[in-house]
Amino acid sequence: MTEFTPPQVKTPDELKAQPAEFQDLVRKIVVSHAVNELYGAQVFDEPAIAYAPTPYAKWLTCRVAMEEYGHHVRFKELGEQIGIPLEQMTPSSHRPLSIFEFPLKTWEEFCVIKLLADLAEILQVEDLLHCTFQPLRNLARMTMPEERFHAQFGKDFCTELCQSEDGRQKVQAAINHYFPYLPAFFGRRGSKNNALYRHWGIKQRSNEDMRADYVERARALVEDHLKLSLPAVPEAA
Ligand SMILES: [Fe+2]
Ligand SMILES: [Fe+2]
Repeated sequence: MTEFTPPQVKTPDELKAQPAEFQDLVRKIVVSHAVNELYGAQVFDEPAIAYAPTPYAKWLTCRVAMEEYGHHVRFKELGEQIGIPLEQMTPSSHRPLSIFEFPLKTWEEFCVIKLLADLAEILQVEDLLHCTFQPLRNLARMTMPEERFHAQFGKDFCTELCQSEDGRQKVQAAINHYFPYLPAFFGRRGSKNNALYRHWGIKQRSNEDMRADYVERARALVEDHLKLSLPAVPEAA
């Protein structure tokens, strides 16, 4: 049996010479990042500036919001280079992920979102670091340190909040509210799309493998580090 080796595609121009299936998959993943980065920035990061309790927290939150808008801009620019119409890269043409349907109400919720949703983002970006479409790999490289900063921001502020009993209760309530939506980010077990992504080397890991890794890393943060509890979550439908 001969092993299929996916091509390494260096530029948007080279992508145009690839099979339609490869091109479509690349476009799909770029659209998904462009849309979700913008949704997140609009629903969580920008509103969080008003909830941040101190000038220092506001300053860091502004930086996070700036970077999340920046991620959208970078993915959108790459999308334009590979022929994705602009209107396909804005939230108005997409149903939001369920987590975006619950507008932020407190600072504690925002800190939990950075702790746990940005961890999910880190796993997605890590996977792209080895992508066969190299412009996407480069984008992942640029984005990674910022996503790490966001997750660290969440960890630091949650750690601080958990020093008071009131803070612990609010952080736990936010975890209970938001965490159940997050494992579904990784898609279905046995997904055909995911198999195609891996066939072309655009993604490296299966949905179920990434989800299990994510839940374990989230558990370590919430239970081992914060000494709170992570709600049990049924596997994504
Ligand atoms: Fe981001
Ligand atoms: Fe982020």
